[in-house]
Amino acid sequence: MAPRQLVTYPNPVLRARARDVAEVDAWVRGLAGEMLRIMREEDGVGLAAPQVGESVRMFVTAAQEDESAPERVYINPVIVSFEGALEASEEGCLSLPGIRGTIRRPPRIAVRATGLDGEAFTLLSSGLLARCWQHEIDHLDGILIIDRMSAIDRLASRKPLRQLESAAAER
Ligand code: NI
Repeated sequence: MAPRQLVTYPNPVLRARARDVAEVDAWVRGLAGEMLRIMREEDGVGLAAPQVGESVRMFVTAAQEDESAPERVYINPVIVSFEGALEASEEGCLSLPGIRGTIRRPPRIAVRATGLDGEAFTLLSSGLLARCWQHEIDHLDGILIIDRMSAIDRLASRKPLRQLESAAAER
């Protein structure tokens, strides 16, 4: 099988609601390995399975620069609690090259997921990692930053979006 590649807008897989992972098997472990590889190659902080063309509920995150968290795989992730007043911060997305926007999100969240070992875990985080979890879980529901960014940012992204659309039409 050819190695998986990063999928960009407007590929329809990015707009689908991904299905649950039934079992942590060899296929899932292989997919996780490829997602980690692509995230590292693209220098991303996180990557969701639809971004490599697989509509399943799974994402990976990079190790935090302050070493507060290691590189990790999250299978069937669920946000179990939100805390704090919404905070605005700029986000980008590997599947939307050239586009950035300010998005308001709760600053502290708890996430429950299954790891590659098949064991469930719950983690609490704030700051960059909490924002990354929400961004990646949005991907599993077919939601992109262009849906959540401010109206001004959405206006500014119209031209790069059109360029991505015409580039895809030419392929
Ligand atoms: Ni993204």
